[in-house]
Amino acid sequence: MPDIYVTIREVAPDIQERLADVLELRAADTRQQEILHSYLSDIDFPSNAQVLELGCGTGAVTRTLAQWPNVAQAVGIDPSSVFIGRARKLSQGIMNLAFFEGDGRSLEFAERTFDVVVIHTALSHVPQPEQMLAEAFRVLRPFGWLAIFDGDYATATVATGNYDPLEACVHAFREHYINDPWIVRRLPQLIYAAGFEPTLIRSHGYVEAPASGYMMTWIDRGADALASAGRISQELSEALKAEARHRNATNTWFGHIAFASILGRKPA
Ligand SMILES: C[S@@+](CC[C@H](N)C(=O)[O-])C[C@H]1O[C@@H](n2cnc3c(N)ncnc32)[C@H](O)[C@@H]1O
Repeated sequence: MPDIYVTIREVAPDIQERLADVLELRAADTRQQEILHSYLSDIDFPSNAQVLELGCGTGAVTRTLAQWPNVAQAVGIDPSSVFIGRARKLSQGIMNLAFFEGDGRSLEFAERTFDVVVIHTALSHVPQPEQMLAEAFRVLRPFGWLAIFDGDYATATVATGNYDPLEACVHAFREHYINDPWIVRRLPQLIYAAGFEPTLIRSHGYVEAPASGYMMTWIDRGADALASAGRISQELSEALKAEARHRNATNTWFGHIAFASILGRKPA
């Protein structure tokens, strides 16, 4: 089964609403916010900056961008009308941002419209990522900044030892929810090929311990995916979820993923 986000417009609205909850849950995590602030601080936002987020989901990152120093206007694009509806609802009262439905690989903006383009945990969900990077390049002004942040999903784990059964859920989550789990490792070559000058790549380790956070949704989504594919029984799927909750309740939960940020600049 392919990454659910690849065909997000075809996913049942109630499932999209649940995914929207997961996006907001992760965005509310203070450590995720610290990481976001850390890599956004690497960007030299010009005054009155026009900023675009591709694959904005429910708009959590776009909301931060709209309130970032020097930012005049922030725009978020996402193919899901459910996510865009949630993004508009959650941003009421913030005047300098706008959300539109759209595909980040085919933008309606004129070339040289934006000073900064951010792609936050979205590129790993997009087939033909080269097209999204080409569009980012086109709509950026000369010396504009591209910032990509994504999970290096090959590092994602909840294992606390060899043959940890919960790890099967993480593998299933990766298979069903991440189009390209390896994309972080190709980011330098991808942005270079798109015409950008790569400037800075950084790793951001993220640990959940001894209690779980959004990684519990990896287990639930992975266990459900294994059961619906007929690879395990419903009973085992429920038992794996119960094991994860037991670890959470007994402070024996450990999850880790390394995220990475990369910045590129459009030459003159
Ligand atoms: C994991 S979510 C990240 C959302 C948001 N950036 C955040 O960090 O909360 C991935 C997003 O990529 C979006 N997406 C998938 N294909 C896309 C495409 N072709 N163009 C733009 N966004 C896309 C999905 O709809 C989803 O909202």
